[in-house]
Amino acid sequence: MNLQEESREIFVPGRLCIFGEHSDWAGRNREFNPAIEPGMAIVSGIEQGIHAWIEKDNKFEVISELGGERKSFSMSMSVRELRKTAEEGGYFSYMAGTASYMKEHYHVGGVKIRIDDMTLPMKQGLSSSAAICVLVVKAFNILYDLNMSTHGIMQAAYRGEQRTPSRCGRLDQACAYGVKPVVMIFDGSEVDVERLVVHENFYWVFANLNASKDTIKILADLSKCYPFAQDATARRVQEALGVKNQEIIRRAVTYFESGDVKAMGRLLTEAQELFDTYIAPACPSQLTAPVLHSVLNDAVVQNLTYGAKGVGSQGDGTAQFLAKDEESQKELIRYLTEKRGMDAYGFTIKRQRRIRKAIIPVAGFGTRAYPETRVTKKEFFPVVDKDNLIKPALMILLEELDRAGIDKICLVIGKEEQEMYKSYFERSLSEEHIQKLPEQMKSYEDRILQIGSKLQYAIQEERKGFGHAVYQCREFAGNQPVLLLLGDTLYESGCGVSCIEQLLDAYEKEGKLAVGLAEIPVEQTGKYGIVSGKWEDTAERLMKVSAIVEKPSVGTAEESLSVMMANGEKKYFMVFGNYVLTPEVFDELGKSIEAGKTRSGEYQLTDALDAVREKYGMIGYRIDGRAYDIGNPAAYRKTVSEFGIQRKTEIVI
Ligand code: UTP
Repeated sequence: MNLQEESREIFVPGRLCIFGEHSDWAGRNREFNPAIEPGMAIVSGIEQGIHAWIEKDNKFEVISELGGERKSFSMSMSVRELRKTAEEGGYFSYMAGTASYMKEHYHVGGVKIRIDDMTLPMKQGLSSSAAICVLVVKAFNILYDLNMSTHGIMQAAYRGEQRTPSRCGRLDQACAYGVKPVVMIFDGSEVDVERLVVHENFYWVFANLNASKDTIKILADLSKCYPFAQDATARRVQEALGVKNQEIIRRAVTYFESGDVKAMGRLLTEAQELFDTYIAPACPSQLTAPVLHSVLNDAVVQNLTYGAKGVGSQGDGTAQFLAKDEESQKELIRYLTEKRGMDAYGFTIKRQRRIRKAIIPVAGFGTRAYPETRVTKKEFFPVVDKDNLIKPALMILLEELDRAGIDKICLVIGKEEQEMYKSYFERSLSEEHIQKLPEQMKSYEDRILQIGSKLQYAIQEERKGFGHAVYQCREFAGNQPVLLLLGDTLYESGCGVSCIEQLLDAYEKEGKLAVGLAEIPVEQTGKYGIVSGKWEDTAERLMKVSAIVEKPSVGTAEESLSVMMANGEKKYFMVFGNYVLTPEVFDELGKSIEAGKTRSGEYQLTDALDAVREKYGMIGYRIDGRAYDIGNPAAYRKTVSEFGIQRKTEIVI
């Protein structure tokens, strides 16, 4: 038995339709009337969802332990029986319907699902039933290595739910994409999904109004307007769910991309106005929605938000709000719950950075750490992390990259080292070994494999220096900016933002070759890459770099590399160990390598950086944090004893 057959924890979020409700079924009418416009919606997974444990089994078994109440259901993996249970409706019908679909279309046995937490409010237009169906498909997908695409998971969940009396829409299964917004396009029976890029944090709140609405009546009245409009009201409904909705979606995509939170808020309010004037007249008894409008017009709510609108089928069901910031989000949840008697929840659509790739050269022989490096690469030297696990230093670094949203990491390694890395990152331990591990360590096994799935390797045939190692990643970088880290340095932030993210944020703002900086005493300049320039901000963090020199003598540093501080002091700054490389750096490295321009037999990165700086400019960012070197005895000793204890900016060398 391998890890795949162990019990695994999974989470499936609920989903919230931000814009474009009703356009899923409306767009489907193109099958009957081609004059109808395709539907479009923006849907996001939310932070509330279903937590479950899954494992392989011969049967299909579901145990739900919610609110202290245990419900269970178990049956053979017979398609006929599962379908029968699905048709009967009720709590387990979604799961049975989806399991029947999986059994019919894939080569699978049974699964056991234990739902142990559900933070998703039921029956509030958040599609908890679709989340349950997605959970079942994901369980089969993981346990039987089906390798399904997210789109495939979504489709199977939809087909599974179709086997029950409940009729879900096509946008419900967007929760398969996680807590990220997607654009869905509904063209007849076709559904297309595109992920959105988000360049600012969006602090959303949704609230159950604790009023009432009749979804069946809303859907019945609106669908009378399709497929052929019989009167002016129906024509306006088709226009609102067609061209006008498409325009709203296009604008929302732009606002997500540009991070324009205020414009997004105004758009929410505008979409509600459109709904009220064009769609509500088709079902006034439900869509006039007095409770919804009273909360939308509430002065306290308006003060805390940039805009708001209804959710799902609309009416007096659920409302959504775009809070001004994190604090307003908390305040709004408090207000809606305590003063307006509603159930309010927050979810944040997080900003994604443009940089998604990182390079870590780890091919060096590590001579300063000899003789241990005869048997252990220094990247595998043990360090106790903050969670009290002893980890290879490289894992600590990789976890930080993972948290910073980096999804592809290229390790530069020697030819003979590939097997060792693959065995660490791709193979799980023997069952006997796993059984002996406590729970925290068992789940860390999964973490290693999950991080391993982000890794790629570039081979450095001959150890010709750091610059040469970086150059081996030119194809991996593929003409995009990439993050570069040293393989033998760990980082600890002195503020709430990790050292890596501080540099990434600086790059996002400036769009130029970027290097992290740390202050050092002048006597040590001869050991490092030294950076000089002028501060661009009053906090003296962002520097316009005017020179970068590899290991200058103290004399040279004093003469030309000091940095003038606002208080008149002269200080010296070294590279901290993190960089954002622009594509031009690879061009410069290529030129040096072709020309055979080495220093002490090695190709240096610093020379290429300086050439790019001269042509295109370069920024330095003084990192609030601490770097820990593990590549020499004194530094390693200090790192082992001090890593994990927060200090002010300092380099352990
Ligand atoms: P170092 O300058 O620390 O070199 O490399 P090193 O070989 O690891 O160690 P010493 O100096 O011999 O003790 C900085 C980073 O660049 C990688 C190293 O693995 C380390 O992560 N590197 C260095 C390569 O990948 N290839 C090289 O040719 C040189």
